[in-house]
Amino acid sequence: MITQLLKAGRESFEMGAKLIRAGELTAFPTETVYGLGADAFNGNAVKKIFEAKGRPSDNPLIVHVCSKEQMLQLGYWNDNAEAVFNAFMPGPITVVLKKRDLPNEVTAGLDTVGLRYPEHRDAQGFLALAGPVAAPSANISGRPSPTTAQHVFDDFNGKIPLIIDGGVCSVGVESTVISLAERPVLLRPGGVTPEQLLRVLPDMKIHEAVLRNIRLDAAASPGMKYKHYSPDARVVLVRGSGENLLASALENGIRAVLYPSRDAAADAHELFSRLRSADAQGLELVIFELPPQEGMGLSVINRLLRASAFTVADEGQSIEITCAGRSCRLKA
Ligand code: TXA
Ligand code: MG
Repeated sequence: MITQLLKAGRESFEMGAKLIRAGELTAFPTETVYGLGADAFNGNAVKKIFEAKGRPSDNPLIVHVCSKEQMLQLGYWNDNAEAVFNAFMPGPITVVLKKRDLPNEVTAGLDTVGLRYPEHRDAQGFLALAGPVAAPSANISGRPSPTTAQHVFDDFNGKIPLIIDGGVCSVGVESTVISLAERPVLLRPGGVTPEQLLRVLPDMKIHEAVLRNIRLDAAASPGMKYKHYSPDARVVLVRGSGENLLASALENGIRAVLYPSRDAAADAHELFSRLRSADAQGLELVIFELPPQEGMGLSVINRLLRASAFTVADEGQSIEITCAGRSCRLKA
């Protein structure tokens, strides 16, 4: 299959919508990350997403819409949904509601559905013609999410017919996922911060696994339990300054880079590009300083923990890691 990479605009939106109606896939930009879309009402088309990504079939997809009316048609609305809609939509947030009529392939057999109304102009232009589109992030499962059309091309060249190029994603991490099917629970930190949400939903609970930043065993948000975002290079996180660890790695002949934390929103914007470029640059170790655990920091830490397989060193501590094919003792 030839993969076309076209600039966002009338022509590519129409071509994408035509493909979606024909049961094919189209990748499209949003302000968070790129999505890999199929017709949300076509179970067979949706199956192609799982095949192309190598995604476990028990991990439900988000349905993308371009109006409140479409949300009302797909999920059972309630006062909390109304409040979240008024405060944050369109935007980088997904609400989980009890689902109406949608194929089981989309929701992985759950009785709920994640709904998102992206703010990105090109996402809206495409969705206006394509109708509700089920889409996960447009990466091969386990790889970092794509924040440019080139990232999508790198993963899916020859496997999907069209990528709509809308430039670099402004947020850079995925949407916040909040369940509003019952009492509000934050399932995945993302582009809207917990602090912002608590202003609108004072009784919102933050899922324990998000709070503790540990692996999810219970499948509250099924996607959170899988290994994620990993390059071949080893990723290690440092609480405090990463300078010592970088020096220690370089002394040991390890090709390493350090990304100091600036502010969490800027860290989020660069995060997936940094993870994706590590292997191309021939790096063996990528060191990230952890941002403070507030605001967008929670989203960044959440992604970094998965990319590093939960490897965190405190400044001043020694750690033993396997890197560049051998076991090394490094000083942070
Ligand atoms: O920013 C985003 O959310 C991007 C763009 C393309 O919209 N999409 C995205 O999709 O990140 P994906 O599939 O990579 O992640 C969706 C997350 C998964 O963790 C999934 O388990 C969860 O949302 N999810 C989807 N539907 C759910 C549901 N009904 N209940 C609980 N969690 C759900
Ligand atoms: Mg994903």
